[in-house]
Amino acid sequence: MAAHEAEQPSSRARMNGTRPDQMQDAHAGAHPLVFRRMTSPPPLPGFDDVLCAAARIAPHAHVTPMLRSRGIDRLAGCTLAFKAEFLQRAGAFKFRGACNAVFSLDDGEATRGVVTHSSGNHGGALALAARLRGIPCHVVVPEGAPRAKLDAIAAYGAILHRCAPGIAAREAACEEVQRATGARLVHPYTDPRVIAGQGTAALELLGDGPFDALVVPVGGGGLASGTAIAIAGAAPGTRLVLAEPAGAAETLASLREGRRVTAFTPDTVCDGLRGTLGEPNFEILRAHGAEVLAVGDADTVAAMRLLYQRAKALVEPSSAIALAAVLANRDRFAGMRVGVILTGGNLDLDALPW
Ligand SMILES: Cc1ncc(COP(=O)(O)O)c(C=O)c1O
Repeated sequence: MAAHEAEQPSSRARMNGTRPDQMQDAHAGAHPLVFRRMTSPPPLPGFDDVLCAAARIAPHAHVTPMLRSRGIDRLAGCTLAFKAEFLQRAGAFKFRGACNAVFSLDDGEATRGVVTHSSGNHGGALALAARLRGIPCHVVVPEGAPRAKLDAIAAYGAILHRCAPGIAAREAACEEVQRATGARLVHPYTDPRVIAGQGTAALELLGDGPFDALVVPVGGGGLASGTAIAIAGAAPGTRLVLAEPAGAAETLASLREGRRVTAFTPDTVCDGLRGTLGEPNFEILRAHGAEVLAVGDADTVAAMRLLYQRAKALVEPSSAIALAAVLANRDRFAGMRVGVILTGGNLDLDALPW
């Protein structure tokens, strides 16, 4: 599986000619996540991978702006900074991880292209990244996926492969494409290059800090685990709070029970957050001690309206949930400086939830 690639010394260490064990001293006293990464063969991406990803994607990705709204601050009772990833290329932070994965491939691997399964933002992001590198991109899409998202993926030049709904059918179709074409799998959230790439959004945001807490949505956990790594390396005093739909709260259950909970039937308006928390993502979030807040869909839709009205931020529900988590937990955040990643803005304008 793709996560095994992270067992190589980090790309930054390779670049500098420095072995990870030599780097340990430089990080003595750092956050446990960073320390763990330096003392054993690294099974998971680390902070240096996030730094490397930031350099790798810089020629291609936008440094998205930070938005503020005094009106929303007053309602929330805290000071909010919104990282506008809905203005990222392809309309979501997903471009960061996809771009890092695509531009990490050596030329030999790259010529055979990339493949993923996604009916949403990752598919479009990977298609765009592959187009920028000039390589083929295959996206396996389940029957019944929203037409608007499929059109967007196709418009970036990806080759679409239909399959039956359900994760087993998607994975089988991906394997078939890999066998037939030699394309490299870029998993939407467990791939270490994707996790490191997603961490660059928090890295940029933390540069505008200090923050007492960062709040990000969690689906498969690529963004959340990348953010955990960025916090551990850049601002270990900042709390990581994850916003998860109450109708798909398996991250909350997993971290509470100390084991990955995978049996659940998602029921939420947040279509980007219906996936199951990945294994490496769970490990990183557990080691980090991330906190999870479950949010009802009504609160998410209200927060989405508020972002449209007050911040002119055209976000999708899977983004608005992060603000909803703050507004529904005013006491938890009272007086704090809070960074919120507004993750994406790809929605069907003919199907707004109000
Ligand atoms: C807009 C948006 N926000 C958040 C997420 C959650 O990201 P992750 O799966 O990395 O947790 C997704 C995933 O598709 C998304 O599309």
